[in-house]
Parts: sequence; C-alpha cells; structure tokens
Amino acid sequence: MIAEDTAPAPRALTRPPRLGFAGVGWIGRHRMQAMLETGLVEAAAVLDPSPDMAAEALKLAPGAARADDFEGLLAMDLDGVVIATPSALHADQAIQALRRGAAVFCQKPLGRDAAEAGAAVAAARTTDRLLCVDFSYRFTEAMRAVRGRIGDGELGRVHAVDLVFHNAYGPDKPWFYDPGLSGGGCLMDLGVHLVDLALWTLGFPEVERIDADLFAGGRPLTAGAVEDYAAATLRLSSGAVVRIACSWRLPAGCEAVISAAFYGERGGAAMRNVGGSFYDFTAELYRGCETQVLTSPPDAWGGRAAADWAQRLARGARFDPEAERFVAVSQVLDRIYATAGRA
Ligand SMILES: NC(=O)c1ccc[n+]([C@@H]2O[C@H](COP(=O)([O-])OP(=O)(O)OC[C@H]3O[C@@H](n4cnc5c(N)ncnc54)[C@H](O)[C@@H]3O)[C@@H](O)[C@H]2O)c1
Repeated sequence: MIAEDTAPAPRALTRPPRLGFAGVGWIGRHRMQAMLETGLVEAAAVLDPSPDMAAEALKLAPGAARADDFEGLLAMDLDGVVIATPSALHADQAIQALRRGAAVFCQKPLGRDAAEAGAAVAAARTTDRLLCVDFSYRFTEAMRAVRGRIGDGELGRVHAVDLVFHNAYGPDKPWFYDPGLSGGGCLMDLGVHLVDLALWTLGFPEVERIDADLFAGGRPLTAGAVEDYAAATLRLSSGAVVRIACSWRLPAGCEAVISAAFYGERGGAAMRNVGGSFYDFTAELYRGCETQVLTSPPDAWGGRAAADWAQRLARGARFDPEAERFVAVSQVLDRIYATAGRA
C-alpha cells in the first residue's frame, strides 16, 4: 500500500467516467447494471478471480477489459472503482483506489472496524475523491417517506426506535463465516444497515450508552465464531432509546422480517417489509390505532445508491463530508461488539 494519502489532482471530465468493478458476484453485477443504466458511466474493466463471475459481468459490458489483479485494475486509467469483494478487502482496496485518484463506491461494511473505515474516509478526504458506501435501504421510497415525516416534525420528538432484520437463511458463501474475512456475523452483515438507518434518520446524534448480546447457534458467542443473533440497545444523546435485533437462520416463519419503526409524542412511522419479502417495503404513519399507508411496492430501490454515486461522479463531485458518517456507524458496531464481550 502507498504510504501517504496523495493522489493526482482531480481533473475535469470531458467524457463519461471510466469505472473498474472489483468483485462481480451477484451484488457487484447488480450494482454494475444499475450504474450502466444511468447511461452516464462506462465500464472499463472488471476484476474477479472467478472466471464465471467475470464472464457474467462482461456480458453486461462487452467492451470492458478483464483485469488479472487489483493493481492491474487500477492501471486502467479509471475515474472510479466499485468494490463488491469479500468485506475484509473493502477498506484496503478503497484506500488503494483513492490514492490512485479514483472515486470509490464500496459495498458495506466499509471496514471490519472503525479504524479501517476511518482510514478509508481519511484517504477520500485528503485525496478529495467521492466515497460512498452502499447503504441501500436509505434509498427505499419507504425509508425516504419515514425520514421525511420525522424531519417535518410530524411525530414530535422521537423517543423510541425499534429496528429488526431477520434473514431466515444464512449467507451461502463460506467467507461470511470467517471473522477474519467478514469482520463479524449478522451484526456486521445486517445490523450495519439498522445502525445506519437509525442514526441517519435521526441526524446522527451521539450514542451515549450501549447494551448488547450476541449469540451463535443459540448460545453466547465464543471466540472464532461469528454471531447469528444480535440484540443491542442504544441510548442516544437526544434521550431516545434504539432497540436493534438482527439474525441469520432465525425460524421467523417467513424469509425475512425487516422493519424500522420510530415513535414520538405525536405519532409513529415505520418502514416494513411486505409478506416476508427481502425486496418489497411499505411505509406507514401511525396515529393511535390508525394506520395511514405512505408508500407501497413496487419500488426498484436496490441499485439506487449505486446509480446516485455514478450520477454524482459524472457531474464531477469530489469528497463529500457526509462520508464521515460511515465511520460513526462503524464506531457503534465496534462498541456493540465490545459491550457484548466479543473475544
Ligand atoms: N448493500 C447491500 O445491501 C449488500 C447486499 C449484499 C451484499 N453486500 C456486500 O457485498 C459484498 C459482496 O457480497 P456478495 O454476496 O456479492 O459476495 P460474493 O462472494 O457473491 O461476491 C464477492 C465476489 O468477489 C470476488 N472476489 C474475491 N476476492 C476478490 C479479489 N481479491 N478481487 C476481486 N474480486 C474478488 C469473488 O470471486 C466473488 O465473485 C459483501 O461485503 C457484502 O456485505 C451488500
């Protein structure tokens, strides 16, 4: 890795940004397609050690080159790098790309801990490059509606927040179960979205106190394993209490239970998945026992964060100080793991 966060001065683009895609498994290809559909960016190169994955990606972008390694990818005169590799690689690849002058769109988590995430954000800040993380649920119509109503003051002061993300399946790739490669289990995989949604919706207040428990296979988490159930309570500086629960392979009675509910003195608002779906969400507003539906499926939200980054890059966007929030999310995860006594 290069020692300092230096990079060539950003140049004004007179052509669509040239992008390199590192890791083109299912999420990498999905986000690649969303970016290409903007019509504003060019897929210059793909990198994946799996010939099958690379071949599938090249079907989306027949003109792109296949790089042999990350250094080879960075050598291709790129304006942006899209990272969807196993989580342990994210921060280091992001830093390398930023130092070579490329903007970065990175899958979550940006780092396995706040030190890694902080180093990536520092590299973006000092090289003045756009860095975004795929906190894709921020881009659902449902969360936009919930956050909008809270911002408009319709709930009054929010004092209670309940967020859950139960995935009745576990990930099917072995690296997710190796703490060195994943950084953690369901909290790192799913809980990261919940922590982000809570803080993003409430304007990133300080988290004053945390209580947490982690389980693996129905027993307290032990060293070397990753958690498949996590429960945490966060007390915010606003006085609000945030309860988070997430899991893999919970017998939830359906494929997924996903919700983010906010309650204030004048009402409640929630994003909820519909019928156990991973993809369909509704937003509801609550007044006492009455429910008003704010948004309903369909909503093609999955690639929206990716497309947003591509559009901003094509407009010449540089470092966005909002990236500092990615570190705040990682810090909360670190504290949850520490509080729960993860070895
Ligand atoms: N934002 C979201 O909502 C969301 C959803 C799903 C997954 N993700 C994240 O996306 C990442 C990838 O998840 P996935 O389910 O697609 O995993 P995956 O294992 O299917 O994909 C990872 C790909 O990276 C490739 N790869 C491995 N080492 C590489 C390297 N050194 N260089 C380039 N490519 C390499 C693998 O061959 C594979 O094709 C994970 O970090 C995960 O947390 C985010």
